[in-house]
Amino acid sequence: MTARKLFKFSLIFILISVLNQSTHADDGYRLWLKYDKIIDTEVFNSYKKLIKAQLIIGNSATSHIIKKELALAFKGLFGEAIPESNELNENTLIVARQSDLPPGIVDQTNHQVMDLNAESFLIKTASIHNKPVIIITAKTDSGLLYGTFTFIRLLQTYQDISHLNIVSSPKIKLRLLNHWDNLDRTVERGYAGFSLWDWHKLPDYIHPYYIDYARANASIGINGTVLNNVNANALILTSLYLTKVAALAEVFRPYGIKVYLSIRFSAPIDIGGLKVSDPLNKDVQNWWKEKAKEIYDSIPDFGGFLVKANSEGQPGPGDYGRTHADGANMLADALKPYHGVVMWRAFVYDHNIKEDRAKQAFNEFKPLDGKFRDNVLVQVKNGPIDFQPREPFHPLFGATPHTPLMMEFQITQEYLGFSTHLVYLGTLFKEVLESDTYAQGQGSTVAKIIDGSLYGQKISGIAGIANTGTDRNWTGHIFAQANWYAFGRLAWDHSLSTQEIAEEWIQLSLSHDKEVIESIKKIMMSSRETTVNYMTPLGLHHIMGWSHHYGPAPWIKDKQRDDWTSVYYHRADKQGIGFDRTETGSNAVSQYAKPVREKFASFNSCPDEYLLWFHHLDWNYKMRSDKILWDELCYRYYAGARNVTRVKELWNSLQGKIDDAIFTHVKQMLAIQEKEAFWWRNACVLYFQTFSGLLIPADLKEPDKTLEYYQSLSFPFAPK
Ligand code: GCU
Repeated sequence: MTARKLFKFSLIFILISVLNQSTHADDGYRLWLKYDKIIDTEVFNSYKKLIKAQLIIGNSATSHIIKKELALAFKGLFGEAIPESNELNENTLIVARQSDLPPGIVDQTNHQVMDLNAESFLIKTASIHNKPVIIITAKTDSGLLYGTFTFIRLLQTYQDISHLNIVSSPKIKLRLLNHWDNLDRTVERGYAGFSLWDWHKLPDYIHPYYIDYARANASIGINGTVLNNVNANALILTSLYLTKVAALAEVFRPYGIKVYLSIRFSAPIDIGGLKVSDPLNKDVQNWWKEKAKEIYDSIPDFGGFLVKANSEGQPGPGDYGRTHADGANMLADALKPYHGVVMWRAFVYDHNIKEDRAKQAFNEFKPLDGKFRDNVLVQVKNGPIDFQPREPFHPLFGATPHTPLMMEFQITQEYLGFSTHLVYLGTLFKEVLESDTYAQGQGSTVAKIIDGSLYGQKISGIAGIANTGTDRNWTGHIFAQANWYAFGRLAWDHSLSTQEIAEEWIQLSLSHDKEVIESIKKIMMSSRETTVNYMTPLGLHHIMGWSHHYGPAPWIKDKQRDDWTSVYYHRADKQGIGFDRTETGSNAVSQYAKPVREKFASFNSCPDEYLLWFHHLDWNYKMRSDKILWDELCYRYYAGARNVTRVKELWNSLQGKIDDAIFTHVKQMLAIQEKEAFWWRNACVLYFQTFSGLLIPADLKEPDKTLEYYQSLSFPFAPK
């Protein structure tokens, strides 16, 4: 070959490779709804045998969506369309509401569907005129849509579909995302770009990703979305914005997703021209009634209000000497005629009250139990402080038999490395849900409180602070998609195991290769513990950077509020470290039911995970591991950082086995995580050493930088 020919040939080769790469590069946009062609021939053939045609009965907007989704899925998974049919043939997939099913089939499903609630579904293999068919049925359109997505997931994860009999009902009624999105499109504690809601172009321009957002949520059973930040701007309730909200509500409606809004308690003053927003004032009450009417005139299925009041500077009923119940009930009365709910947040703490911040929400809300209207839920963060890498469950769970409590989890990783750290939150969610409050004796888990079963409450809810934004892959980190996914799956069914959910997500998003699945599952399942270790081991908490919360800063002190500093929480001194929350200290343990209180109160029975949350212990305190506390702390920090390096190596071994673009994306993120894990480790160990005066155990490598160096770092533009 001449040099010229060789040059030409190489050029063509390079071009082809570039084209190939760009057609295969996965940018993560499709989330877990990829519908890539089935690569296992045996599975492929078995499916092709069992699904020959599809018959979708119904003419609603949701039926059309179901039709489209199935067509998209089949085209992708099988590489060709499955014909639509108008009659029942052998191996037809029938999707229909129970009331629309052909008589022969109703008989076969009746007893099962009778027990279904409005959102449940049944997927069943049956036979009609001796012909095998697969049926997806439900009482409502939403149920059908959930059934359809579940069926598609069975195919995506290569499950055997020859004998199906799945009945599924959500355990919790309200399954919501909370967006902390501002009207200027910034997202508070958002790390994945700007807000999805393009308020400026709404209501006229419907961005295609509104629809994909709805598909993604419906596919995991999320049925509501609070569009705006809890630190709310009152403008959202003006008619200008309500028409925009109505446009989004219209997009989401056929996907079974209701729209909710965060309101600003002083809205009657801010936008209503009133002088006060006192909940007992008649004009204020009427203003809200009129506002509710205006909202429901254009959004008949509007979900309700989320309220942050008298918390971190937000206005509230307390400004007029009224209680949270007074405030919530006024709004509840305005929404009641339309079946709307109020989700009143319990995230309150007042720096004028000289009381452990961890106790304040309980002190404020426990006496109000039974004083709320029946369309009010009190929304409680999973732990008593603020979404720390690990917190014990919030003591309000179990303490309010007459008030439904709604769980608030944080999917966005404000305190867990933003969107650059790989932290699978399924295990965090599950740890909280499975915690036993002992409120009604053993087995009174947090899950049973929020699903309403422990106290027989009629409404129940769970919310996750969304991690979505305009980043092409929605969540910044590909693995952060798994947290959105896990939240939805657990909201639907909190009995699912986190392993199961992780495995499902990996298959939907990354690979079907057994070894690859196992490796990634290992990474995911240990990731949260790893992060706890390099950030806040042994129950430490709230020692992150000031205001933006980026990176370690256990040295933060002397701010306008004690409970916004780090030293308030770790209380390190020459003697030891930790927050004494037993009787000799703040006595926060007293807020838990007896068996829990006793377990946490004694350092002999308090789990290591919560030790410094509840106890101030000497540096020389002998741990269960036989190490002294100082050494244990060092070993935990080092183990956490070391694990990130291991994960990085394990990930690198997957090169070539998963999509290149995703591989490189995660590889780069892991490099950041590793750097930051070492930063956390070094900064914290060096800082706490100034109190303990003890050496870092000899088998651990000394940090290569000084404490002064870490203290000098500043990040004025870190996302907030
Ligand atoms: C945290 C967070 C704030 C947020 C607040 C809340 O304090 O840092 O950004 O507004 O929680 O949940 O209301």
